[in-house]
Amino acid sequence: MKTSGLVYIVVMFIFLMSSSLFVHDVRSDGHEKEEPVSYYKQIVPILKRSCQGCHHPGDPNADFIVTSYAELKRGGMGGEAIIPNKPDDSLIIELITGDPPAMPQNQEPLTDEEVALFRRWILEGAKDDTPTDADKTDEEVPVYTVPPVISAMTFSPDGNTLAVSGVREILLYDTENYEIKERFVGKARRIQSIVYTKDGKTIGVAGGSPAQFGEVQLWDATTNKLIKTIRSTYDTIYGLSFSPDAKRVAFGSSDKTVRVISIDDEKELVKFDNHSDWVFGTVFSTDGTHFVSCSRDTALKLVEVDTGSFVDDVNSSNKGYGEINAIARHPNADQVLSVGEDRIPRLYRMFRQRRRDVGNTDFNLIRAYEAQAGSIDAVAFSADGNKFAVGSSAGEVRVYNVSDGKRLLTVEADTVSVFAIAFHPEGTQLAAGGFDGKVRIFDVQTGDLLNVFMSVPIETAASEDITLAVSGMT
Ligand code: HEC
Repeated sequence: MKTSGLVYIVVMFIFLMSSSLFVHDVRSDGHEKEEPVSYYKQIVPILKRSCQGCHHPGDPNADFIVTSYAELKRGGMGGEAIIPNKPDDSLIIELITGDPPAMPQNQEPLTDEEVALFRRWILEGAKDDTPTDADKTDEEVPVYTVPPVISAMTFSPDGNTLAVSGVREILLYDTENYEIKERFVGKARRIQSIVYTKDGKTIGVAGGSPAQFGEVQLWDATTNKLIKTIRSTYDTIYGLSFSPDAKRVAFGSSDKTVRVISIDDEKELVKFDNHSDWVFGTVFSTDGTHFVSCSRDTALKLVEVDTGSFVDDVNSSNKGYGEINAIARHPNADQVLSVGEDRIPRLYRMFRQRRRDVGNTDFNLIRAYEAQAGSIDAVAFSADGNKFAVGSSAGEVRVYNVSDGKRLLTVEADTVSVFAIAFHPEGTQLAAGGFDGKVRIFDVQTGDLLNVFMSVPIETAASEDITLAVSGMT
């Protein structure tokens, strides 16, 4: 249902912004009069491109943040960097000029034209002309010219909808004829996780925009309206899960933490920072008292929700298992299936029955299954808990009996690599997606390919406004 191990590059060409570096109008006497420099149209794009990477709120160098006008004006450790009307007294000008300029540190200097824009903007008073509805540009429906990598998908509990990740949106398909019925467009550029609450009323979406923010979006599945957005961390978040009562969400992050947040008041109940690498997955225990998280650091950790305290390394002898890319909980038991780099799905009991020994024997392991042909990025249980499916970097999906490990099905599910799989709640169909951007629907019994379609509408001619181009690699 969720994916992770992939590194992907999202390239956004915003032609609109780059086309307006110089704005002139011609006076009646034929002389050109320069329009004032626009902070929003001309300065912000430069800050985003050349400065934001090191001066974002997550870990700002010299305490200097450029992601909002207010922060930019506030300045950094050395005080105000911009003195309106006085470019020569403004630290920012001193730093972006010079030979070589100090900023952007160790990178291509700004061009003379760009420096001149900063200068003139400050000379003209360093005004903020951000339109009040500026956020709206983020909400335009994305236009695709190339297929996006599919990183998450899930069926609704009633089986009528298949939700699939796009870029900055999720797309809802009706499962009758697989046509788009809704598009939920948000702010997070990367979508890593899509989960319905058990009652099917709410859709949770987790993702983020790298080096900017991570967020959980909660959508009302009946009215198709955004209920709320919960921002957390300054990077992408992964592996969303709802507590059994749907009052809390847990997720992992590339900042190595796991957080549990109460949905109503958005209070952070747990911030668990015991992992030493990105956290890709979370699952609650059946009673909601604990969660298990999995990480690139190879560990599966059991944590108590009330105290936020670490209880156990579930896979105690995790030596050599490699990065864990995803986990899924058995639909009605405290068992967790973990998958990742070493290609072997492993089913564990969440709560220990035998004490740890000196040799860290894997006492919690219920069963290790057949090795896959590539590293595993996607895992899902059937709703009755009798079967599970895994998707690998070999482009395959395989389905197994949970109880005896018998392989039931092998299908080619992506031309490159599978990052997302989901069982239809009735257990008869399986959806898979990945690198090539196509959703494939299989009959679980026969392995027949029932349907295949591109996950998003693709425009053949480049749009004038915003073009999103997405490519990916494992
Ligand atoms: C690769 C990282 C990096 C990039 C990119 C970068 N900076 Fe910096 N910036 C730094 C570091 C590190 C410091 C602290 C430097 C020091 O103390 O020597 C700093 C300090 C500053 C300061 C001083 C803040 C204060 O109050 O002390 C300003 C102003 C600044 N940067 C502006 C910019 C601007 C404008 C850009 C883009 C054109 C930019 N930086 C791009 C790393 C970066």
